[in-house]
Amino acid sequence: MNQLFRKKSIDQLLSETQGKSGLKKTLGALDLTMLGIGAIIGTGIFVLTGVAAARYAGPGLILSFVVSGIACAFAALVYAEFASSVPVAGSAYTYSYVSLGEFMAWIIGWDLMLEYLLAASTVSIGWSGYFQILLSGFGINLPVWATGAIGSSPGAIFNLPAVAIALIITLLISRGVKEAARFNNIIVFVKLGAVLLFIFVAAWYVKPANWTPFLPFGFKGVLGGAAVVFFAYIGFDAVSTAAEEVIDPKRDMPIGIIASLVVCTVLYIVVSLILTGVVPYQLLDVSAPVAFALQYIHQDWAAGIISLGALGGITTVLLVFLYGQTRVFFAMSRDGLLPKIFSDVHPKYKTPFISTWLTGIVVAIIAGITPINTVAELVNIGTLSAFVFVSIGVIVLRKTQPDLPRSFRVPWVPLIPILAAAFCLFLMFQLPLITWIRFFVWLAIGFVIYFGYGIRHSALPNPQSQNSQ
Ligand code: ALA
Repeated sequence: MNQLFRKKSIDQLLSETQGKSGLKKTLGALDLTMLGIGAIIGTGIFVLTGVAAARYAGPGLILSFVVSGIACAFAALVYAEFASSVPVAGSAYTYSYVSLGEFMAWIIGWDLMLEYLLAASTVSIGWSGYFQILLSGFGINLPVWATGAIGSSPGAIFNLPAVAIALIITLLISRGVKEAARFNNIIVFVKLGAVLLFIFVAAWYVKPANWTPFLPFGFKGVLGGAAVVFFAYIGFDAVSTAAEEVIDPKRDMPIGIIASLVVCTVLYIVVSLILTGVVPYQLLDVSAPVAFALQYIHQDWAAGIISLGALGGITTVLLVFLYGQTRVFFAMSRDGLLPKIFSDVHPKYKTPFISTWLTGIVVAIIAGITPINTVAELVNIGTLSAFVFVSIGVIVLRKTQPDLPRSFRVPWVPLIPILAAAFCLFLMFQLPLITWIRFFVWLAIGFVIYFGYGIRHSALPNPQSQNSQ
């Protein structure tokens, strides 16, 4: 039983990472904010807003963004405290290994797989929607069977562009992406530009009549929408994975996490207001709603530019999440909870080559055959559950290690972490039953792997065998 609760010590973690002298400390608060925006703005705002408005919230979409934003704000404070006190890579998985013990860490790592792996699939599907809009601008249309998964549109069988982009990015990452990462700042400007262009072009065409009825599906619809658009916020937590490369993590981590979230929240609220003001919400259930809105008001030039910006922007999100997944696998494998193949480094490329390809192929297959909202909802339930555990972890770590230096402290503990956990749980309950069933099946598989493999291969010593020595 003690095995389940064995913990890593923070000193042990820090010494493990200091051994890895390869990671240079070069990032400051601004870089982190850019990194955050790079990971956050993507398929959520450019694609899922359409589904959320048409099927759930109607013009009340703006309220969905507010509710989801509040949940994320609380969670961001909690992440900021962890990232400023445990500045090592691995994100929520590592935090929980320190505070809650091995079993919970495994569960969270397993949940993070839902987040990173499936977010990469979701993002590939979103990319495909904008890619096809651009192609059709040039008069090229893919055969109907290749445009999406079965069920996404009549005649569609397989999402070919989604599979292609997932494999191309896998190829990049498997060979090392230091250069690609440098382009992040440029791409962030491109996608901020795309969002701002939409705002400035479309704002003039808002017809307030489109906002009535404001809540066609009632407040329940707003909450259902909030659970879907939560996807748009995911990514601020990915900032914490860069902790080992930050010059002054204790000061800059909280700034980076919170600033990127604030910027995106403001933009999302404005975009959702304009989108539903320009197009009657019933028409928004399309694969590229932001570009569609511009076509609807006959601003095709802007639709073209924004589709390009969205494509570039969504690509970096894909990069961050695919890369993040290989990092989480790497950390779990280094700890012995997953087979060593996940931390094997390629002799030439110095990347976890096999693990990257395994991940990329799985991401591509899922992206090819699944409709976007099915995967997005699974990502959300996985991420929300990780946020719940991390929030509890902060309270536990305050009790168990009260003297640990924390340059950023969540105010009013335990109230704020409790609110973070409660909000996230509440959003989880807005997701459909089928998502919960899939989630439990996923957890059950996780249990089997932990008790069949991880518990025996863990790199941490077994407390019982130590006691009996
Ligand atoms: N927040 C990221 C996106 O919307 C995952 O694409």
